[in-house]
Amino acid sequence: MSTSFDVIVIGAGPGGYIAAIRAAQLGFNVACIDEWKNAAGGPAPGGTCTNVGCIPSKALLQSSENFEQAGKHFGEHGIHLKDLKMDVATMIGRKDTVVKQNNDGIAYLFKKNKVTFFHGGGSFVRAVDGGYEIKVAGKTEESLTGKQVIVATGSSARALPGAPFDEQSILSNDGALAMGAVPKRLGLIGSGVIGLEMGSVWRRLGAEVTVLEALPTFLGAVDEQIAKEARKAFDKQGLKIELGVKVGEVKAGKKGVSIAYTNAKGEAQSLDVDKLIVSIGRVPNTTGLNPEAVGLKLGERGDVLVDDECRTNLPGVWAVGDVVRGPMLAHKAEEEGVAVAERIAGQHGHVDFNLVPWVIYTSPEIAWVGRTEQQLKEQGVKYKAGTFPFMANGRARALGDTTGMVKMLADAATDEILGVHIVGPMASELIAEACVAMAFRASSEDIARICHAHPSLSESTKEAALAVDKRTLNF
Ligand code: FAD
Ligand code: NAI
Repeated sequence: MSTSFDVIVIGAGPGGYIAAIRAAQLGFNVACIDEWKNAAGGPAPGGTCTNVGCIPSKALLQSSENFEQAGKHFGEHGIHLKDLKMDVATMIGRKDTVVKQNNDGIAYLFKKNKVTFFHGGGSFVRAVDGGYEIKVAGKTEESLTGKQVIVATGSSARALPGAPFDEQSILSNDGALAMGAVPKRLGLIGSGVIGLEMGSVWRRLGAEVTVLEALPTFLGAVDEQIAKEARKAFDKQGLKIELGVKVGEVKAGKKGVSIAYTNAKGEAQSLDVDKLIVSIGRVPNTTGLNPEAVGLKLGERGDVLVDDECRTNLPGVWAVGDVVRGPMLAHKAEEEGVAVAERIAGQHGHVDFNLVPWVIYTSPEIAWVGRTEQQLKEQGVKYKAGTFPFMANGRARALGDTTGMVKMLADAATDEILGVHIVGPMASELIAEACVAMAFRASSEDIARICHAHPSLSESTKEAALAVDKRTLNF
């Protein structure tokens, strides 16, 4: 087996494995190193996303949503079930199978594209003539050299000071996705993306869920109108969210976890729960990389410092995904991975950071791309807004899911679409139309004049575009 490569990628999450495949497609001899272990100690390529992130969370969101539908909404369709039960072990087993299918899929793609995979921790040893020596510490130790190195080592959950994760009582995303039973009382710190998604899963299955959030506003990065609509839906579902809290001492004992905090009014409070999920953001993974050996520059958060094109301070060393600046999203990592491979090949890889969509896979789903109304106001941009409620959409009524709306923001003078914000059914899929439109710098009039299938949820996007010009047809 060759130990000299054109490109060595450290990390096989969505940033790394996609960079490796694209580099191989471009004709390079590529190695990809990843240390993630499955339950049997074998390789599990796919990173956080595949193993303890995007994929397993969506599997559990689907199972729990099915349970909620069966218990609370099937009756509306005339479907009556007796003795509805949730078998958590089967649900977790299914999630593990879905994860494994994805691990196997990536291993297959590596073979297909002739990417050489190494299972173990990758670290810099030294700069060598025309490249870098990289050590792989796995079952055996290997030394590789690469002309170009792409760091894609991802991120890990941030713990509360003084309350390390034990994954039994105080859980990160790892433990949150692997609970063997539904806790009676579940606490979450942080009402960000993980807080809302994981809170939704376990609430649907019967847990009494309380989320403590430090900020005074709910989902501050989301368009205010959309966040307000989502909050209404979560309140109705019984997801308790307390804003503006200051979390104090967290004590884990045999009977559960006790959290001392002050509420928004400054009053001392305590919350006792059986399990606590801490979802207060993530930290870049750079400790195992041995960056000092080659003088790779890190930022204050421990992130690898890069320019807009993912170049580090070292020639031939690049970094992509969660380990660098920008949103911690799988598709952002993938885009950067592709762009870097293309730049190495002398092409003009490009990522438009203004057009990275966000999706929160709760029910209702929340999705957006581009600027929010509050950002446009802050920036003094003159805009027109159009909204269309799913309540007025035939397909949404037939689905029995009429919560929410599509909102479109367009430049007042040119009509160019500046942002699209959706809360409601299948927002995760609907947002793609907005991304395409904005990538082609479409106007709201363009969307308003495109024929959309009837009945479909996508008609709501067309109607929101019509609403920008105050001429909705169905509302
Ligand atoms: P990672 O996926 O973190 O992969 C890095 C890999 O590098 C890991 O396998 C790690 O073991 C390996 N590694 C680290 N150091 C070394 C080393 N020294 N040597 C060898 N290997 C090493 N994003 C979305 O876009 N959509 C979602 O729905 C979504 N859901 C999420 C749900 C949860 C619960 C979480 C936690 C995250 C979610 N994310 C989601 C975020 C997404 O998972 C990350 O943005 C994405 O995984 C980042 O990809 P990456 O390749 O940069 O890093
Ligand atoms: P987050 O950044 O989304 O949310 C963290 C929340 O915790 C914030 O609202 C923050 O104000 C709050 N917080 C921070 N410190 C706190 C404290 N001490 N006490 C109380 N609240 C505190 O981070 P999260 O949810 O951990 O997720 C990490 C990242 O993973 C996300 O930002 C996202 O990039 C990614 N992710 C993406 C998903 C998706 O795309 N659907 C799903 C899940 C995660």
